[in-house]
Amino acid sequence: MKSFLSLGCALALMAAAPSHAKDLGSGLDEPVLTYDARLFPVMAENGMVSSQDRIASEVGRDILARGGNAVDAAVAVGFALAVTHPQAGNIGGGGFMMVSLAETQEVIAIDFREMAPAAATTNMYLDENGDVDFKKSQFSHLSSGVPGTVMGLLDALDAYGTMTRRQVIGPAKKLAERGFPVSYSLSTSLEEYREDLTADPSTVDYWFKSDGSTYEAGEILKQRDLARTLDRIIRKGRDGFYAGKTAELIVAEMEAGGGLITYEDLQNYHSVIREPIKGSYKGYEVYSMPPPSSGGVHVVQMLNILGGYDLSADGHNSAAYIHKLAETMRRAYADRSKFLGDPDFFEVPVSALTDQTYADHLRSTIDLGAASLSSAVHPAQSLPFESPQTTHYATMDKDGNAVAVTYTLNFSYGSGFSVDGAGFMLNNEMDDFSSKPGVPNAYGLIGGEANQIEPGKRPLSSMTPSLVLKDGKAVLATGSIGGSRIITQTLQVILNFIEFDMNVMEAVSAPRIHHQWLPDEIVIEPGISPDTIKILQSMGHKIRQDDDGVKFIVFGRANSVAFDDGLFHGAADPRDPKSGAAGY
Ligand code: DON
Repeated sequence: MKSFLSLGCALALMAAAPSHAKDLGSGLDEPVLTYDARLFPVMAENGMVSSQDRIASEVGRDILARGGNAVDAAVAVGFALAVTHPQAGNIGGGGFMMVSLAETQEVIAIDFREMAPAAATTNMYLDENGDVDFKKSQFSHLSSGVPGTVMGLLDALDAYGTMTRRQVIGPAKKLAERGFPVSYSLSTSLEEYREDLTADPSTVDYWFKSDGSTYEAGEILKQRDLARTLDRIIRKGRDGFYAGKTAELIVAEMEAGGGLITYEDLQNYHSVIREPIKGSYKGYEVYSMPPPSSGGVHVVQMLNILGGYDLSADGHNSAAYIHKLAETMRRAYADRSKFLGDPDFFEVPVSALTDQTYADHLRSTIDLGAASLSSAVHPAQSLPFESPQTTHYATMDKDGNAVAVTYTLNFSYGSGFSVDGAGFMLNNEMDDFSSKPGVPNAYGLIGGEANQIEPGKRPLSSMTPSLVLKDGKAVLATGSIGGSRIITQTLQVILNFIEFDMNVMEAVSAPRIHHQWLPDEIVIEPGISPDTIKILQSMGHKIRQDDDGVKFIVFGRANSVAFDDGLFHGAADPRDPKSGAAGY
């Protein structure tokens, strides 16, 4: 990547780590003054964390400073976000973790996605007319899958971490017990979601003041029941959540609210170590999350298509570039609708979809001068080459280990229901299944048999935690939030970093676009010029710049960490003012 070590850089570093500023072995001995960027990441010498919440990032940074590795820090950040970022940080949801281990040169994908309870049925959300009842699939106890986060984080800690549960979960417990100052961003968000959250008295109890009003910025939010649950996890490990008191509280909540999760479902929950999806782009190796995420398959499929163009010659966010991106995305999302689901239940044709010959074929169907119509683009009939509100964060440590995690409750605050007595919110991840073939879910995504509801199955996800390696060394840990837009946001950060040679802060901040086949439109963030939009429209693209009439959509929060020129670079996505990167 481009070198931008400079005096400015050295000063930023000194602010972050005064005691180490003189010890740098690389680069800074002879600083090169190149102010060739407008945006700079946080820089540090020994490790970095970037997440959607500054307090949680600092928890991770402190773990690194005490000698923990990137996995210890990631586990600590995961539990801390469950306290300070209740929109999506969670112990009642699920997600995915990608780990790159420097010593063994392994890259590992950990799947801790929620599982459908044993009593789930394919048509459980259809009403008597056969229509999907979205209240049931999104805002009810029935919408919750069996939570995976605690299992996933503890499995990661046991297998790849170096610290004890008390060391990595203790800071989260302390934040819950003693409280933390509510940010403007959290205060605004709680007020915005008031209507959804006030259906459940325990949610009101946990996240609103005793008179029912919203915490103002700066006021201290304490979560004593959550602190007690975290304490049970510290003391008993998995049994502090999937057995005993916490499990009993979850089951009681389900029984009171008409949900399906039983004690046996909790006992049967397991995370899965999966083979990562591997691709390459211009000399970099790209590792990403395999099914039940659709993210890795489609990021690699899209990089394979785009690798055949000279994108930097088009220019970043030019009409020619956006056209190629949109046409590529259109084709990938068409395939997503048919071929992606939980690989334990449905044979996902991973190698066919990520095959270079198939990508070359898809590229040959793209007209460089005109938009295709999504109605004329279909998922492949047969694949000839096969023998089938969320938060994202990243950590890197001084030994070169890197972790990317995306985990979620699905919507902000999930189903809106909390486990009474246990202090945490329940996911509404079951809505990520296809409740009825052809009927879009909350993200407008369509699916069929591959992603139909079945007991014990994991719903298809778009979450795309990804690691980019160069010559076997992790140089970028990235991913995003944003429902169906996650995959395309992650793709653009990777392209910005590799193809357009941006530092990670520029790569994360640049305006992004999204196309998902259906609806047939490019959604565009502010920052793409009206002239560019006109050219795209003249090529036949429908452009959307607002969400339900709300002007200026921004999407994705792609908190990322890079290693560049001997320094760790943290980029907290500026789209959330609460985000923060912290290094040491
Ligand atoms: O797994 C998925 O694809 C969705 N449940 C992610 C939801 C999400 O990103 C919402 N936040 N922005």
